[in-house]
Amino acid sequence: MHTPPTNAPEGTSPTAPRPATPPSTAPRRDRRVAVTDLRSMKKRGEAIVMITAYDYPSARLVDEAVDLILVGDTLGMVVLGYETTVPVTMDEMLHHVKAVARGAKRSLVVADMPFMSYQTSPEEALRNAGRFLKEAGAQAVKLEGGVDMADTVRTITAAGIPVMGHIGLTPQSVHQFGGWKVQGKTAQTAIKLMHDALALERAGAFAVVLELVPAPLAALIGKRLRVPTIGIGAGAGCDGQVQVYHDILGLFEDFVPKHTRRYMHAGDAIRSAIGEYASDVREGRFPTDEQSFCMDEHALAELLTTDDTRAANGNGKQHASHPTIPALP
Ligand code: KIV
Repeated sequence: MHTPPTNAPEGTSPTAPRPATPPSTAPRRDRRVAVTDLRSMKKRGEAIVMITAYDYPSARLVDEAVDLILVGDTLGMVVLGYETTVPVTMDEMLHHVKAVARGAKRSLVVADMPFMSYQTSPEEALRNAGRFLKEAGAQAVKLEGGVDMADTVRTITAAGIPVMGHIGLTPQSVHQFGGWKVQGKTAQTAIKLMHDALALERAGAFAVVLELVPAPLAALIGKRLRVPTIGIGAGAGCDGQVQVYHDILGLFEDFVPKHTRRYMHAGDAIRSAIGEYASDVREGRFPTDEQSFCMDEHALAELLTTDDTRAANGNGKQHASHPTIPALP
């Protein structure tokens, strides 16, 4: 029989048997991934895997298979229901980074700095970046922008906080871009992106996310940088890839970005499971004795003779479906 762990709360029941985990191609590590490992992975041509997660269970589920977990401000869209990432606050990010950090034991946790937490001054950016490490348990932060953010990246890294850059389509500037558009399609804009990437590397960024960038340009940027590039909609020539948890699992159904691949349809699976639960409750198939708790028969007999219980049960007349309801004091 499958017994719950000894420190499990009373009444804990074994979970349903889990399907066999597919063999992971993740390198076995007996410690957490460090930013310094990523540069070695790039040198060895080993693909870097990053995914977003926003809470404890998702962090636990992804931790074994990936190298980095990004607590992205996509949180605003896929978890909180905002239309863009712009409204996301420091408090919301801190809350979710704390949960992810509690679940991630081997992946490097990167906290995304929300809009207006770093743009106003390098000092403000440093204060907020520090909160993600000190209060929330992340190991690094990510911010959007290139040349214009280089001083900020320099200030944060000088304080010992690893920074990941993010260029291309930077979602916090979606209103300036006029939509979710591929960036760097002309020679001039491509050169600007190359300068942005180099500026981030020189400022001390340990990696650079390239979002919605033509694949040939992303590959060129990756060749110029010593630090890894992590692509999302930037082709296979990047040193690593990042995807949004809810996108690849089919949990976010408002739209499917072109850059994603759905590995499962969790939304359909959840709808069907919840529908089954609802009909089981409505049709009396749940709960059964298996999910209920019994009571010592002497205690029950004594309980049924007390005045309060007799009164609650209609003075000796037992209520058919609730024979043991005690009266409230
Ligand atoms: O917020 C996020 O999830 C991101 C990734 C899409 C790179 O920035």
